[in-house]
Amino acid sequence: MHAMHARLPVNFVLEERLERYADAIEKQPAVYRGCWTRACWPLGKSGNGFDEARVDLGCGKGAFIVESARREPNVLFVGIDAEPLCMAYAAQRIMEADLRNAVVVPLQGDALQRIFAPGEVSTIHLNFPTPYPRKRDAARRLVSLERLIEYREVLADSGTLRLRTDSQPLRDFALTQLDLAGYRIVHSSEDERAEHPDEPSSEYEERLCAAGAHVLALWASPANKPVCSEQTASLSLVDYLPEDLFEGRYVPHGMEQTIVNLRRQKERAARGGRA
Ligand SMILES: C[S@@+](CC[C@H](N)C(=O)[O-])C[C@H]1O[C@@H](n2cnc3c(N)ncnc32)[C@H](O)[C@@H]1O
Repeated sequence: MHAMHARLPVNFVLEERLERYADAIEKQPAVYRGCWTRACWPLGKSGNGFDEARVDLGCGKGAFIVESARREPNVLFVGIDAEPLCMAYAAQRIMEADLRNAVVVPLQGDALQRIFAPGEVSTIHLNFPTPYPRKRDAARRLVSLERLIEYREVLADSGTLRLRTDSQPLRDFALTQLDLAGYRIVHSSEDERAEHPDEPSSEYEERLCAAGAHVLALWASPANKPVCSEQTASLSLVDYLPEDLFEGRYVPHGMEQTIVNLRRQKERAARGGRA
C-alpha cells in the first residue's frame, strides 16, 4: 500500500519539484474557505467563477483530477493528499496539462472543515482510499464515521460522496459508517467500470484492474442527521471477509498477507480436525 512517506526516486529532489510546480499547489487553502469557486477563477477571464467545487480526497499522483478537469473546464477540482511526493507529481501533471481549474492541497483528510465552508463542495471523490485493515488503524480510514460526519458538513445538500475501491471489506465497512453518519446510498455497483465506462481512471484503478480487480462503487448523499452517531460497527476489516477468503479470486490490495495468514490458519484447523 502507498506509504505515507514514499521513497523518492533517484535524482528526485522533492523541495525542488514542489517549488517548480508551486503554482498548482495551494499552501494556504483556509484563505479560500467559502469562496473557492470565485477566488480560483482564472485571472483575466470574464465570468462569475466556477460552477462548482469538487474534491478528490487522497488524490495520489493526480491522474483522476487532471483528466476530470480537462473534461469539465467550468468545474474546480481540488486534490488533497497527505503525501508530499504525490502532491509534487499531481501539481506537475496539472501544470503540464496547462489546467486552470485544478489545484492540489497538501493536507490530511481531517482538514476539510477548516478549508471549506458548509455546503461548499458538490462532490467528494474517494478513489481507492488506503484500506488500513487493522482495527487499531480504523480511525485512519477516509471512510471512518468521524471523517464521514465531517464531510457531511462541507457537502452541499444535493452533493455526493463517491467511493471507488477494489476492496469488498472496505466497501462493506463504508456501508456501515455511511448509515451511522446519516447518508443515503444513491448508487451502488459491483462493476463500476462496466456501468460508467467513460469515468476517468486513477493510477490505482489502472494498476489494480490490470491485476484482476473489479471497481466497487458507492455514491452517498447527506440524509437526515442522526441524533446520535455512536460507533457500533466492527472495526477490523477481517470481520468483513467472505467465508471462502476470496479462493480463486482477486484479493483486495492491502489485505494479501492477511489472507495468506488466514488461509494457513484455516488449513491447519482443517488438518487438526481430521487428525
Ligand atoms: C491507495 S492511494 C490512491 C491514490 C489515488 N486516489 C488513486 O486512486 O490512484 C491512497 C492515497 O491516499 C493518501 N492518503 C492516505 N491517507 C490519507 C489521509 N488521511 N489524508 C490524505 N491523504 C491520505 C495517500 O497518500 C495516497 O496517495
